[in-house]
Amino acid sequence: MLNVAVLVSGGGTNLQAIIDAIKAGSITNAQIKVVISNNKDAYALERAKAAGIKELCISPKDFEDRAKFNEALIDAIDKENIDLIVLAGFLVVIPEAMVKKYKNRIINIHPSLIPSFCGKGYYGLKVHEAALARGVKVTGATVHFVDEGTDTGPIIYQKAVEIKEGDTPEVLQRRVMEEAEWKLLPQAIDALANGRVKLG
Ligand code: GAR
Repeated sequence: MLNVAVLVSGGGTNLQAIIDAIKAGSITNAQIKVVISNNKDAYALERAKAAGIKELCISPKDFEDRAKFNEALIDAIDKENIDLIVLAGFLVVIPEAMVKKYKNRIINIHPSLIPSFCGKGYYGLKVHEAALARGVKVTGATVHFVDEGTDTGPIIYQKAVEIKEGDTPEVLQRRVMEEAEWKLLPQAIDALANGRVKLG
């Protein structure tokens, strides 16, 4: 059984997709041990509570400096015996020490086809704004392993999503979530939990 920590910052629709997939049996051999948010108002925490999953808020604002926050985040994960860390809309830079300690055991969902519209400054709606501003006709989502860079780790799965005339960033974000993110992330967790993708 793969012990999973899900790290979130916002609405938590990707977290919900994971919870639902575990319930439906489309993810097997995995359980969410803890949901951690950097933001105490994140609706994702309500989703965890409703599903009976342990939830924690660990915010940089509550610590003297970034090093102390990083330490607390790593400690919280270490305590739960975690095999896989899933970044599901987590908008905080992952401490380098955590990347090293959990090498090949951290995955992230990004709302574009990497290497387009990724890296520093590309998160959430900004990604979709940039795709529309560039005029690309196809975008999508990517699940990848997390390394020391921003959105630079090995790609696990990608799925393309069509951009339609008249799309706003919000409309496009929703389509990318529905058609790609909510499918890819559970698929990747199931693949990792069942040895179809190697944890390294
Ligand atoms: C998702 O679209 C996710 O891909 C994105 O934040 C959103 C979180 O939504 N992540 C990034 O942009 C990371 N660079 P959610 O809280 O409803 O899952």
